[in-house]
Amino acid sequence: MSLKKVAIFISGRGSNLESLLKKRDMGRIKCEIPFVLSNREDARGLQIAEEKGIKTYLINHRDYPVRKDFESAVLQLTEKHEVDIIVLAGFMKVLSAYFVRTFNKPIINIHPSLLPSFPGLNSQNRALEYGVKFAGCTVHFVTEDVDAGPIIGQEIIPVFNDDSEESIALRILEREHILLSEALSIVINGNYEIIGRRVFVNHDKD
Ligand code: GAR
Repeated sequence: MSLKKVAIFISGRGSNLESLLKKRDMGRIKCEIPFVLSNREDARGLQIAEEKGIKTYLINHRDYPVRKDFESAVLQLTEKHEVDIIVLAGFMKVLSAYFVRTFNKPIINIHPSLLPSFPGLNSQNRALEYGVKFAGCTVHFVTEDVDAGPIIGQEIIPVFNDDSEESIALRILEREHILLSEALSIVINGNYEIIGRRVFVNHDKD
């Protein structure tokens, strides 16, 4: 059977991307990565992909005054490369209902909070300031509603008295790297079912 084609979208540092690429190299994730796309020129992740010989594209949303035009340009790439799955690995641009409906295949997103708590931006610090005792990260399917699609997996970390914005973000990030590859493998293998909002994973098929 041919490998699923997984496009990875980023906007910055690219540590989740790097971790996925490492796991793919080790044979722990089985897929083809036709390209990495960034909406920001200064995304360090672009360099990480290039060093691994992966095709990169920069489509800067600022060059498109109309959001639909930006998204159409991205969709054209996904069609050209026959992408099966999109992974949003620190992609900081919200994709509209138009994008989600037109792509019409799985899109997954890693978010640095235990959704539905702290959707949106700056989630780790907002969790810290709120005073939660446990924080974490979520991988979910992307739907038309921001940070609200069915949850594939979550990882939890404790919050300590001496935590800072940096320390909590780093501890969450370590769990993100584990969670994202696990969630992507589930989606690649197709061994799940979505009923209502709930994602049921059939581990027998692993
Ligand atoms: C990660 O913490 C990811 O969860 C977050 O951006 C960071 C990207 O780091 N994503 C979001 O906040 C999406 N709303 P990375 O570029 O090193 O992977």
